[in-house]
Amino acid sequence: MCGDLLAIEKFISNSLISINNQNVQDIIFHLIRSGGKKVRPKLVCIICKMLNYLEEDRIKVAASVELIHNATLLHDDVLDESDARHGIKTANNIWGNKLSILVGDLLLTIAFRWLITCQNLRIVSILFEASHSLVNGEIMQLTTNFNPDTVRQNYFDIIQKKTASLFSACCEAAAIISGATGNEVDRLKKFGLNFGMAFQIIDDMLDYIATQDTSGKKQGKDFFDGKPTLPAIIAYERGNKEEREFWNKCFTLNEHNLSQALNYIKKHDAIRFSIEEAKLYVNVAQSEISDFSNKDILIDFLYKVLHVKDLTF
Ligand code: FPP
Ligand code: MG
Repeated sequence: MCGDLLAIEKFISNSLISINNQNVQDIIFHLIRSGGKKVRPKLVCIICKMLNYLEEDRIKVAASVELIHNATLLHDDVLDESDARHGIKTANNIWGNKLSILVGDLLLTIAFRWLITCQNLRIVSILFEASHSLVNGEIMQLTTNFNPDTVRQNYFDIIQKKTASLFSACCEAAAIISGATGNEVDRLKKFGLNFGMAFQIIDDMLDYIATQDTSGKKQGKDFFDGKPTLPAIIAYERGNKEEREFWNKCFTLNEHNLSQALNYIKKHDAIRFSIEEAKLYVNVAQSEISDFSNKDILIDFLYKVLHVKDLTF
């Protein structure tokens, strides 16, 4: 995997060096070296390896999904007005919103240019649909008002679109370039979808419990941004009338009180229930690939990324 990661970084650096704008280059290298986990390109390479596909196209696909992901982060940090990610300043914080948006757009176009060179319309189409879904997920998150009756379903729809769709596309594209059978492609696609759902649920759970020191992001950022994520939804569902009133105010009137929110989350064990929910997706992901002979490398990766052992599943 180490070799593949180096090859991906080299591919990205070599291709981007020709961009003759220093600010743009600086932003891209700031992102690539920001300490992100590179989960999506790793997924591509692990699946290709599992299916014994070692051709150059896997590096192109992996580099493309990393650029698409970085494009979304550039836009996401503008939308969320975030000033730190992975413990370092965001691009919008250093270079401003306008350049961040444009460099995000640029990365998206470069990623698709690379994908096109693989000369496989299915791959282009899969990553195109995933990108389309990411944007729709963000639009839905931005425009859906808090409604107690639909908040849970909305949450799962949003995370499927904004996160799981790209995980799923990475697995599907990797399976296709590796020459997997239709059934294998389908199972790996579902593996990715369920992995992505668990990934976002855990990310949202950590948003409430991790501090700036441990996560590199402000604690309770989603809460302050008015995003009703699973811990809040669970506490709301299990809360009494007064507590529900509190959550309603948080998400409709932007009246925020993080320590009170954390009290209710603790009272109703909403962190543990969130982990249980993530666990359901982990189990489905695992079962989707149970028939693959050398699946262990993929399952180890799933566990490592989701910190499954630390989360006392
Ligand atoms: C992070 O989620 C954000 C995403 C997973 C998707 C962001 C997508 C867009 C902004 C649409 C733009 C799309 C393209 C193709 C350019 P989060 O905000 O919950 O996580 P965080 O805590 O890491 O910010
Ligand atoms: Mg965000």
